[in-house]
Amino acid sequence: MIIEGIAVSGLGEGSYFMSMGHYRKEIKKKLKFDAYQGTLNLKVKKKDRDLLKKLGSIEIKGYKTKDKMFYGAKCYKARVQNISGAIIMPGLNKHGKDIIEFIAPVHLKSKLKIKDGDRVTINII
Ligand code: CDP
Repeated sequence: MIIEGIAVSGLGEGSYFMSMGHYRKEIKKKLKFDAYQGTLNLKVKKKDRDLLKKLGSIEIKGYKTKDKMFYGAKCYKARVQNISGAIIMPGLNKHGKDIIEFIAPVHLKSKLKIKDGDRVTINII
């Protein structure tokens, strides 16, 4: 499956969650890579995002502390150009229904010269 998206800026929260030890460990264990501490947000067709949710996913567990709940996420292995990573869908979605987030071992914007507003093709593996 191929999804076309447009690179957009997020809420700056991707890097917060991606820098947390718990999520870093889970991603390393389940997806087998050390993720760059952030997410590339892509605006896609809502229809495509819904289709994606029907595919089999890799579960990233959440956890809770005494007074705070950290939700889990569903991941779908995918590739942008020659970079393998994953689409990550947080259990608690703060974005619109037309946004997906992509994680990878590298900073995609500098490696692939992507700027906000550019079209990005994601290959679901
Ligand atoms: O601020 P925002 O929520 O858009 O992004 P972030 O998760 O804090 O990530 C910081 C910046 O790195 C953003 O411009 C992302 O698009 C970018 N990024 C990237 O190019 N490649 C990644 N693997 C992760 C993030």
